[in-house]
Amino acid sequence: MSGSSETKTALILGASRGIGRALALDLKERGWNVIGSVRKLTEIPGVRIIQLDLNDEKSIQAASADFPPIDLLVVSGAIAGTENLLETSSEHLHHYLDTNVVGPHRAVQAFLPALRRGNKKQIVLISSMLGSNEIMFGRDMELFSGPYSITKAALNMMAVLLHNYLQKDGFTVIPIHPGWVDTDLGKLAGPGAMPISESVGGIAGVIEDLTPEKSAKFVNWKGEPMPW
Ligand SMILES: NC(=O)c1ccc[n+]([C@@H]2O[C@H](COP(=O)([O-])OP(=O)(O)OC[C@H]3O[C@@H](n4cnc5c(N)ncnc54)[C@H](OP(=O)(O)O)[C@@H]3O)[C@@H](O)[C@H]2O)c1
Repeated sequence: MSGSSETKTALILGASRGIGRALALDLKERGWNVIGSVRKLTEIPGVRIIQLDLNDEKSIQAASADFPPIDLLVVSGAIAGTENLLETSSEHLHHYLDTNVVGPHRAVQAFLPALRRGNKKQIVLISSMLGSNEIMFGRDMELFSGPYSITKAALNMMAVLLHNYLQKDGFTVIPIHPGWVDTDLGKLAGPGAMPISESVGGIAGVIEDLTPEKSAKFVNWKGEPMPW
């Protein structure tokens, strides 16, 4: 395992299913060394598995100790639901924030030393169009217009701030909207989502084309600009 320019190493957090799992397999097919995190031990062919829970600081600390250099960190793991903001309890909102915002922050802090030792120094946060203030303004308050949107808006800001802090050290940080994807999460919005392979093929392409000039740009799975 190395961060050499010949073989790039990616760490995907939330790789047990959905977009994270498919991205781990796609990047492996493209020749990357891939490490994937799961909560419950699961095999992913050709992918080194580590165990951590974004809600559990200790599990992240343990998983990140003495970590090899990595070129890319992708945070895909998240929770989602269709709750109405006005009916959401503060405990529930707190759990969302802990998983989807504090969790990625814990993970970035813990794996930053491994990223610093890698060559490419890339951080990709899987966000959502529902975290865009511009898109949400005036939108019909239907599905996902509650705590989930708030966490993705915060995640977008985290990408901007990480960029501000880390750009001078050669880092590239982007939030990416994967589209509406046919995963357990995507199915909450009903039928009609795009196949996982379509979204993930696009995301992998965006990652392979990522350069420092593209840092702090919010894009979708096709690399197209998204409004903040
Ligand atoms: N699908 C869509 O249409 C869509 C649209 C916009 C954005 N997104 C974003 O894309 C990302 C991936 O979503 P998906 O559609 O692939 O969802 P998914 O199929 O529901 O998978 C969610 C993943 O997150 C992991 N996870 C949940 N809580 C976690 C925690 N506390 N610690 C570590 N991992 C945790 C799950 O692990 P377990 O198996 O252990 O539960 C699973 O691997 C998310 O950030 C989501 O917000 C998805």
